[in-house]
Amino acid sequence: METNQNLQNMTKATEQNPVNANLDIDLTADLTADQTPDNQLPYWLQSAESSEQKKYFNQDIGNGRGVYISTYGCQMNVNDTERMHSLLEMANFTPVQTPEEASLIIINACSVREKPVHKVYSEVGRFRRMKDKNPNLKIGVGGCVGQQEKDNLIKNQPLIDFVFGTDNIDSLPNLVSQVYENQTKVVNAKFEHRAPYHVETLVRNPGVSTFVNITKGCDNFCTFCIVPYTRGREKSRPISHILMDIRTLIQRGVKEITLLGQNVNSYKSEDGADFADLLKKVAMETDIERIRYTTSHPKDFNEKLMHVMADHQDKICEYVHLPFQSGNSRILERMNRGYTREQYIDKIKQMKKIIPNLVLSTDIIVGFPGETHDEFMETVSMVQEVGYETIFAFMYSPRPFTKAAKFEDQVDDKTKNERLNYLFDVHDKLAFEIVQRYQDQTLNVLVESVNEQGKAFGRSTQNKSVYFVGSKELIGKTVPVRITSSTPNVLRGELVLNIN
Ligand code: SAH
Ligand code: SF4
Ligand code: F3S
Repeated sequence: METNQNLQNMTKATEQNPVNANLDIDLTADLTADQTPDNQLPYWLQSAESSEQKKYFNQDIGNGRGVYISTYGCQMNVNDTERMHSLLEMANFTPVQTPEEASLIIINACSVREKPVHKVYSEVGRFRRMKDKNPNLKIGVGGCVGQQEKDNLIKNQPLIDFVFGTDNIDSLPNLVSQVYENQTKVVNAKFEHRAPYHVETLVRNPGVSTFVNITKGCDNFCTFCIVPYTRGREKSRPISHILMDIRTLIQRGVKEITLLGQNVNSYKSEDGADFADLLKKVAMETDIERIRYTTSHPKDFNEKLMHVMADHQDKICEYVHLPFQSGNSRILERMNRGYTREQYIDKIKQMKKIIPNLVLSTDIIVGFPGETHDEFMETVSMVQEVGYETIFAFMYSPRPFTKAAKFEDQVDDKTKNERLNYLFDVHDKLAFEIVQRYQDQTLNVLVESVNEQGKAFGRSTQNKSVYFVGSKELIGKTVPVRITSSTPNVLRGELVLNIN
């Protein structure tokens, strides 16, 4: 049933969105074909093994082969930057803290809102003097902007040497070696539609808490969103790979993982396991102490998942990020979100009933094309009715390729701005009241860092940032902290000493 429902949603969404030939998106591609044999070396290892390339990986290109990556966007991009650093380290590049120290600069850019391409050009422009000083300095653009703009970037800004897409990260060492070897500009932004999604997590210093990708891409085609065009079709990693990854991370000291995907709820392993099955397996078959996940889609968040969360609350945090985008059903339909206001509220009621002490956050768009004042007020009332502890709200921004960008009834910037400010004002007051419930409570805090002054930072299972006085030995431990001051973004407290 669930599978059929997802397939129906997918077909519906894709039919409404004609394929743009420029985007290399083949919506009919058979994603299950062409499995890579498990014993085949990953592409980046193969490329690093080739002796021609080794030459370039050992070449003096000035500045001690320093690589600087500037990252914008969501956690996917942050994770991708980690992957780029790991791969480039294998090609003898060393991470540096400033662009001035680098001989290779990469901008891993996001295009979800505002003027991303403009931002990239202005950042690259600032590197002109560095390029004059070191002619071997190469500049690349990746991430969702690289995928979206491809060779346009090179055409419009001669300082850019190479561009790569979101599906081409593993070929980065190879790409960089081509740029140095041939002294030519290179663009590699083709989606690997047929390749399965088999990637191990590459993170240099995972610390106490880290992210593990479980899906990539998105097939939902919300009419405002560029992600399906910049990240390609949705694919899931096999469940066995994810479990293996998590076990390795645990050996490296990780205590908490966040499973990551644009819509984790539509995860489907090759063997048919769904997201609830995956979550249950991670809870039961690994020693990870805490599990989080993001992002959920209201249309796919099902009762089975609610029960898995409730049954494994010792490990699975009671925090859910469930974007509703608009509180008005007409706007939701125009957004192609696949649920109405009433269905969303019913789901929240059910979640609150099944998952004890559930804490919620959400994403909201104000000023979507055609949104009237009354429809906006339904968004405001939704925030009040559900009682989110945190909201991430944005002014609608027309994105290339998306359906909503072509809607004729765009809302003017002044109105969008006023609506956003009003919404934040309402929520600020509400959030302040909501967090008072933490006052004098003792929360279990997983300590992530402690600074030289003994200020400890960690997060509670409710995803609250908690500060208290503590020592470095606490890093990686879960400790009880009694809350003495509560504001919407930060809780402060004191360590509860266990006297046995
Ligand atoms: N996959 C996630 C969201 C990814 S983008 C999900 O479905 O929730 C993160 C957020 O950016 C979205 O939830 C939405 O609120 C916002 N967003 C996306 N496109 C936008 C646009 N064109 N204008 C304004 N906000 C946008
Ligand atoms: Fe996909 Fe989320 Fe964008 Fe919708 S908002 S298209 S679910 S990434
Ligand atoms: Fe931005 Fe791409 Fe993430 S557009 S929000 S970096 S998926």
